[in-house]
Amino acid sequence: MASMPSARAAPDALARRGARAQPAWRRPVRHHAACARVRRDARLGTCAYASSSAPTARASGAGGGGHLAVGGDARLSGLVRVGGAKNAVLALLAGTLACSEPVTLTNVPDLRDVRSMIAVLESVGAKVTRLNESTGDARTVSDVDGLGTLRVDCSRITSSAFTIDTVSKLRASFFAAGPMLARTGWVEMPLPGGCAIGARPVDLHLRGFEALGARVRVTEEGTVVATTAVGDDDDADGACRSTAPLRGRADMSLRFPSVGATHSLMTAAALAEGTTVIRGAAAEPEVADLARMLNAAGADIRGAGTDTITVRGVGDAKAAARMANDSKKKGVLDVASVASLGGCAHRAIPDRIEAGTFLVAAAVTRSSIELEPVILNHVRSTMDVLEAFGCAFETSAVSEKSRTENENETSREVRLRVIPPASRTDARPVTFATAPFPGVPTDMQPQLCVLASAASGVSFCRETVFESRVAHVEQLRLMGVDAVAEGETVTVRGGATTGESEVSDEQNAYAYETRDVFGSDLRATAALVLAGLCAKGTTRVFGLEHLDRGYERLDEKLRALGADVARREE
Ligand code: UD1
Repeated sequence: MASMPSARAAPDALARRGARAQPAWRRPVRHHAACARVRRDARLGTCAYASSSAPTARASGAGGGGHLAVGGDARLSGLVRVGGAKNAVLALLAGTLACSEPVTLTNVPDLRDVRSMIAVLESVGAKVTRLNESTGDARTVSDVDGLGTLRVDCSRITSSAFTIDTVSKLRASFFAAGPMLARTGWVEMPLPGGCAIGARPVDLHLRGFEALGARVRVTEEGTVVATTAVGDDDDADGACRSTAPLRGRADMSLRFPSVGATHSLMTAAALAEGTTVIRGAAAEPEVADLARMLNAAGADIRGAGTDTITVRGVGDAKAAARMANDSKKKGVLDVASVASLGGCAHRAIPDRIEAGTFLVAAAVTRSSIELEPVILNHVRSTMDVLEAFGCAFETSAVSEKSRTENENETSREVRLRVIPPASRTDARPVTFATAPFPGVPTDMQPQLCVLASAASGVSFCRETVFESRVAHVEQLRLMGVDAVAEGETVTVRGGATTGESEVSDEQNAYAYETRDVFGSDLRATAALVLAGLCAKGTTRVFGLEHLDRGYERLDEKLRALGADVARREE
């Protein structure tokens, strides 16, 4: 874990910079040394941070293994309990870095990505404990099986530098860069890499930091270094500790509504001095959820969930300078805050992608199931595609157990029943293109390709958010699905197979027998599980290291609905 150096050590550290024993991003970070690097290279390497080809963190989940043996020709029935939204919780956890008092988060799913994000926070000094709701007992996260309710205490930040070993586990760790920069005036963050769904640049994040007054550069080793320090902030000992908050920016504009950049910049702006208006912001429900948490902790954010977000920052340059001075006098080794929010309690929204995945599972197996809790507004575009396919829906009140307070008309949680078309001939082909919210989520595209394979006729599925998110198509073809990817469009001939034989109307299965298929990313793996449910025989789906990043006990939940799904270690 990196720590603030003592001021006395600074000249030595500066002298050592020339002789690097290992890449800069592996060494403990010393603020003063990195600060000098930034001064020396104040001109920003714009092409460096637009690129994802620099030596970078790998974005895939680590470890894992085994496969799911998925029995075909499944019929499902029953009720699925939808967990807290992975993507919301990752953003909320990153956002807790802006809070100098504890934040209690409920509805936290136990996912590999969530545990990885917790490790990222712990690496910079956060204390994360699970609260046992019945006894009030607090235990560290690694002690327990489930997560549920977490208490995240970021009151003492011990370093502003993230290390490759923690951030490489998940790309969303980059969401923590903005909160850290705004909180401590400094951040060092290894660049996230490209991944199985294409290049994933972070230029929007970094341009946003600059717009908020930060100086940003990317080191040769692929680490982003950003500071709010204006001019030469070195003190007599050569140590550099920024005492300036970010500065609000009334005309910030994103060229694409990046979800992560909106999270990071909205949180950073909440700690800036002055007002920021972010135009072209992502309107995803996860952004609105993060804004709710930050507002509960003292931020003033309006318009989150639309494309224009106005943030009145709590930063105050004079107060920040006083705080830094105080901690210096006290000889505090922890990183001082230049601005922060307080604490709060917040419940994460339900996972709209998990819900959508189960809706497709029901449709392709011609089963009627119920899901709860679901916020209809969040799954509307997925429901539209399912309706075009021939599904009908019924809603009812959620059970007492799932009921929450403070809901309004657009965020009310309901129980949703999906009623599939009666036969394959009633299942119509679909045409859709993924788009930022409220469009069809890119995270549903692979699953909706499987839906298309169960229709009678030709469907067209277009991916517009990520440049190469079609790796599942090749695997679906191995299972007999007649799907072809050309550029960003996947054409699926439902009711036909790659072997040219037709699938009869009675069949709820593809024509091929058992196959081994490999998921290349989280949603691709989920899509293969769905295809397995309506294949013939047993499909062995590999890629669980991806699946477990984002689905909480998918196999158990499917088994509870009557599917024949077994997890095998080999
Ligand atoms: C988030 C979600 C991910 C989802 C994606 C799009 C989390 C943890 N992940 O990812 O599941 O698929 O939104 O809904 O919430 N882009 C740039 N420059 C940037 C940032 C993004 O060009 O600085 C581009 C990306 O290359 C991509 C598009 O914007 O083509 C969308 O990316 P973005 O919305 O940022 O995705 P994430 O926030 O990483």
